[in-house]
Amino acid sequence: MKTASLASLVLILLALSSQSLLGEAETSPEQVLDTSGKVLREGVNYNILISMPYTSCRSPQGLGLSKIGNSCPLDVVVVDINHRLPLRFIPVNPKKGVIRVATDLNIMFPDRNVTCPHHSTVWKVDNFHVSKGHRLVTTGGVVGYPGRETIGNWFKIEKYDGAYNYKLVYCPSVCPSCKHECKNVGMVVDQNGNQRLALSDVPYQFRFFKA
Ligand SMILES: *[C@@H]1O[C@H](CO)[C@@H](O)[C@H](O)[C@H]1NC(C)=O
Repeated sequence: MKTASLASLVLILLALSSQSLLGEAETSPEQVLDTSGKVLREGVNYNILISMPYTSCRSPQGLGLSKIGNSCPLDVVVVDINHRLPLRFIPVNPKKGVIRVATDLNIMFPDRNVTCPHHSTVWKVDNFHVSKGHRLVTTGGVVGYPGRETIGNWFKIEKYDGAYNYKLVYCPSVCPSCKHECKNVGMVVDQNGNQRLALSDVPYQFRFFKA
């Protein structure tokens, strides 16, 4: 009798836990796909193509690093695809391993850069790198440690206008009590003519290719 009720208790618990697992899977946001339809994963390098509305399909562009104003950290700039650098995405919950839309993540250039060896190549926005009213995407951020201190380091990928097309947004959920803006990631041409990645109303369209 005792063992029978214990067995049924175990069964009920098993049923409950598998149900909650299923429930979790159902509510997880969609996975981000590369142009061959494969799921984006942590720890994998991706080449990206940015286009529209700032550039046309005929002059495809990517993202790279530049030392603007002779100071570190390096800034994220728009480059032609021959000079683009691969990117890596690290979700806020690194155990998941899969990159999903509308989920906080860090973005970094995986290759170390000797120009600014004491700064990371992790993307961040702050209040000090601004051009024409647009906050610029620079580097020197940290991976992980979600919260108030790191709020400028978190971006999200969102679906945008057609299959395999995405946009990046700055709209972190890592600090519910923090005040912050929600903006698309686009471009601004600074006073010296540099095309710089920046928070903007107008998003770039992003596509991902396994590097
Ligand atoms: C390093 O930074 C320079 C800008 O100072 C950039 O031109 C170059 O592409 C970067 N290289 C890598 C591997 O990140």
